[in-house]
Amino acid sequence: MDLYETQKAYFEEAYRSGEHGWPVSEPSLPVIQFLKAFKKKKPSGQVLDLGCGEGRHAALFARAGYRAVGLDYQAGALTRAIHLLNGLRSNPCFVLGDVFQLPFSPNTFDVLIDYGCLHHVRKRDTKAYLQSVVPLLKSEGNFLLSCFSTRFKHHPEDRRTRDWVMHKGHYDRFFKKGSFRAIFGREFKILKIEEERDGLYAFYHVHMQKKKH
Ligand SMILES: C[S@@+](CC[C@H](N)C(=O)[O-])C[C@H]1O[C@@H](n2cnc3c(N)ncnc32)[C@H](O)[C@@H]1O
Repeated sequence: MDLYETQKAYFEEAYRSGEHGWPVSEPSLPVIQFLKAFKKKKPSGQVLDLGCGEGRHAALFARAGYRAVGLDYQAGALTRAIHLLNGLRSNPCFVLGDVFQLPFSPNTFDVLIDYGCLHHVRKRDTKAYLQSVVPLLKSEGNFLLSCFSTRFKHHPEDRRTRDWVMHKGHYDRFFKKGSFRAIFGREFKILKIEEERDGLYAFYHVHMQKKKH
């Protein structure tokens, strides 16, 4: 089976069982902090959460008054998201779709969020990811990204000689601080990069702004 088919099956099982390692409903602190500042400058707008999972960030923006869309290629994730948000007045819109074939027009969104999707994209597909995602963001729009740091470990003895690994049927890519400028620097100003470390886990949270065009 092709790597992405195996990976899709991994995510399908993750949402079938509900036993996965990432947060379900609690938004990440850097996203909460961004929203607090952004709300003062731009109290309305369109937000797209790529690989939204159970919708924690799309829901955060919808509750704050934005038109938020959560996109994921797992129907099980979106079913869970809708179930979790049942009863809330301001809900995001959820779309079943693939990050490589996004059903939106260019210059649609004020904010893009990718918390944990890009690091499952093969290095050689980075360009295809950028070509799919970047045009959707308006000029000077904001991109919030979270990826595995090279310091991330799956277990205490985890040693890697390269910056990616196949782990339990899915592909994980690990980033250095400088990776983001190398990947995004042509089209984005990097405004903030912070590393969050918690035990074996280590992530980079990146805030970028699309350059004016
Ligand atoms: C680690 S989870 C993170 C979920 C969510 N962003 C969060 O922070 O809670 C990665 C998500 O990306 C989704 N995903 C991976 N590859 C995708 C693709 N090519 N198109 C759309 N979604 C994808 C998975 O189904 C999964 O929900």
